[in-house]
Amino acid sequence: MSIDEEILRLLDATAAGLEPGADTLDELGPDRVARILLDEIVDRARLDTLGTFADTVVVEFRLACHTGAAIVFLSLGDGGCTVSTEPPRAADVVVGQQLGEVCLAVFGPAESVSASTRSVYWNHGNLLEPGAAAAPVFAVTQRLLGALDRRERPGLAELAVRFGSDKWGPHQFTRHYERHLEPWRDKRLTVLEVGIGGYDDPAGGGASLRMWRGYFPRARVYGVDMWDKSGVDGPRITTVRANQADVEAMSAVAAKYGPFDLVVDDGSHVSELTRGTFDVLFPHVRSGGLYVVEDVQTSYWPVFGGNGTDLDDPDTTIGFGKQLVDGLNHDELLLTHEREAAVTDHQIEGVHFYRNLMVLEKGTNLGQSPIADKLNEAIRAADGA
Ligand SMILES: C[S@@+](CC[C@H](N)C(=O)[O-])C[C@H]1O[C@@H](n2cnc3c(N)ncnc32)[C@H](O)[C@@H]1O
Repeated sequence: MSIDEEILRLLDATAAGLEPGADTLDELGPDRVARILLDEIVDRARLDTLGTFADTVVVEFRLACHTGAAIVFLSLGDGGCTVSTEPPRAADVVVGQQLGEVCLAVFGPAESVSASTRSVYWNHGNLLEPGAAAAPVFAVTQRLLGALDRRERPGLAELAVRFGSDKWGPHQFTRHYERHLEPWRDKRLTVLEVGIGGYDDPAGGGASLRMWRGYFPRARVYGVDMWDKSGVDGPRITTVRANQADVEAMSAVAAKYGPFDLVVDDGSHVSELTRGTFDVLFPHVRSGGLYVVEDVQTSYWPVFGGNGTDLDDPDTTIGFGKQLVDGLNHDELLLTHEREAAVTDHQIEGVHFYRNLMVLEKGTNLGQSPIADKLNEAIRAADGA
């Protein structure tokens, strides 16, 4: 079983807010589960931001289950952070907790996060006079437990900067994203981003995929790029090589990994390809989900297939978005507008433009317009007269 399948198993097993049963723990192996959990906790804890310590800090996690206890050590020193099943030396602190409860805290719904079975034993320093010597151990442990309990969580901008995505900095997209995504943070989600970054370097880029993974602790994150980006693959992140101009390949990605809660197009930024990708992927967005296109300012630039003179050109991404605004109000329009109905008229309930960014909310858009109906009746009557 791949790490991805193992994590999917744990996400499924905790989805209902219950601890995974003994069968799941046996199937994966308690030691393996403990290791997966610790890797996630360390990834979320951002321990490198605590600075460097003169002495290595060793934290032992004893995660109890029906077969005994799975034990994992974390050591943080000059050489960075390592997670192992062998003790590097006697631990400075031992954190005990039920394995099932830790599974729930890491992968379960927010309301099931709990530390009711936790114990913490300090082996370090004089506990009656905890001073500078103990400070690193306290800081590391506090950060790990804060991450495990989902108390200490970075915002999208911090994650973008941390991993090197231009979604904050050159662009100011993260605050707009957060306006829409903050309420989703603890949901189980499927995210797809087109455009991974790093171009032809298989291990380069992946900044925004890591940003999404860090922001959504229960999400599966998929990335598509025209280059092989397999070096970016990791827990909860899967990359696929496909050119967004290739409708068949993009359809196959959607069929295999969708439906999606969030699709982000940060790929070519060529209007024609952006539109083609929308046509393929939008049907695979769940109702209530979001479809986002970044860098829509390329609509104004002919080198990106944009239009340098006509601001309303429907073949550009912004021109297309303006048409979607009319689609929002499709049943308010008059016969004299002579607009053709679009399939998206009933499927998009929100069109948001921010600087360089377009956010579409998928949802049912049906309504009534007694005034438009009357006005159209009058137009028909006048035409017949
Ligand atoms: C701006 S980078 C993406 C950055 C990344 N989303 C982030 O925020 O960290 C654009 C990526 O789109 C990819 N790309 C460009 N044209 C593409 C196409 N036609 N199909 C698929 N990917 C494409 C490039 O290879 C590049 O890796």
